[in-house]
Amino acid sequence: MPSALEELLVSKIASEGPITFKEFMELALYHPEWGYYSSSASRIGKEGDFFTSASVGDLFGRMLARQIAEMVDVLGGSPTVVEMGAGQGYLARDVLLEFERLERSCTYCIVERSPAMRTKQQEILKDLTHVEWVDDLGDVAPFCGVLFSNELVDSFPVHLVEMCEDGLKEVYISFEDGEFAETLREPSTGEIEKYFRELGVTLSVGFRTEVNLEAVRWIELVGDSLGKGFVITVDYGYPSHELYQPYRSRGTLMAYKGHRTSEDVLAQPGEQDITSHVNFSALKHWGEKVGLKTLGFTDQSHFLLSLGLLDLLNEGDGLEMSQVLKAKTLIMPGGMGDTFKVLIQGKGVDEGWFPLGLREVPRRGSFRL
Ligand SMILES: C[S@@+](CC[C@H](N)C(=O)[O-])C[C@H]1O[C@@H](n2cnc3c(N)ncnc32)[C@H](O)[C@@H]1O
Repeated sequence: MPSALEELLVSKIASEGPITFKEFMELALYHPEWGYYSSSASRIGKEGDFFTSASVGDLFGRMLARQIAEMVDVLGGSPTVVEMGAGQGYLARDVLLEFERLERSCTYCIVERSPAMRTKQQEILKDLTHVEWVDDLGDVAPFCGVLFSNELVDSFPVHLVEMCEDGLKEVYISFEDGEFAETLREPSTGEIEKYFRELGVTLSVGFRTEVNLEAVRWIELVGDSLGKGFVITVDYGYPSHELYQPYRSRGTLMAYKGHRTSEDVLAQPGEQDITSHVNFSALKHWGEKVGLKTLGFTDQSHFLLSLGLLDLLNEGDGLEMSQVLKAKTLIMPGGMGDTFKVLIQGKGVDEGWFPLGLREVPRRGSFRL
């Protein structure tokens, strides 16, 4: 029995012809009623489909709060803290409670696309003051403060492309013999080829990858909206020189359902998450064009350790085994510790200033953007 979203996609394709993979992903994740993120707030955590660092416990939010507090002190005045894509609101809660412990205050703004997530956030944050929700980043612009996100950019709908003998083609989705199927066509927008040109990337024949034009628009909007301050982006991904290696020639698209991964991203639209790895070189490149200076790039493990994660474990009544295990989950190599990366950008701030979380950056070449 096809779902309402599947029926909608099938009739759209029947009337308009094949749609780009990006349109498919946009509807699968964000259709206002049946999209994966719009229809339920229970997607993240043990009972959901995947864990984020925020769903592992409060340690990630507490450490992030320490980085934000340091930035707030540098900025002075009464800065705004903006979280984009706040999921269930637990990260906001952990950051705000740590802010209270650190005796700092701020105006906390959440920009959230999913109405279901926003409702859940309002329930989780009901006892905390100074939290505001805005529909659009433009609503708070120009602001002085810190904008951060965790696993936001990987959830943006992406174009899917493949280099063929006769040039770059885009993946479109058709419906054949009762199934969604792929078909290659000319790119839907000249922006795709411009993206690779600007990044200085040449794909070899047969190489398939994603093009996250939403990420470009997003970082441009962030740069334009931030009067003065910092941007902290935590997500999984790579710089260009790693993303386009031959061993990634099938791209990085992945679906998540019930803590299982699958490459079948066309299955069960609206019922499974679809993500792609972030190109951090693109965020740096387009960020710099709108005045966002790159302050540094590291992985989650080095970021959290630089911020004093181990000291935090020893505070209070001493080591608590469950907290130790959670800390391990956040910094484990081969897991969250090095899969997740942290990019810090700044605008209108002293370029010589070095955020605490970047004190320890791995020396490996992969941290060159
Ligand atoms: C993978 S979840 C991450 C949630 C949370 N940050 C965490 O770490 O648990 C992605 C979140 O970003 C939101 N989102 C996606 N695109 C967005 C956009 N353009 N503006 C605001 N929120 C967005 C989704 O609705 C969802 O809440």
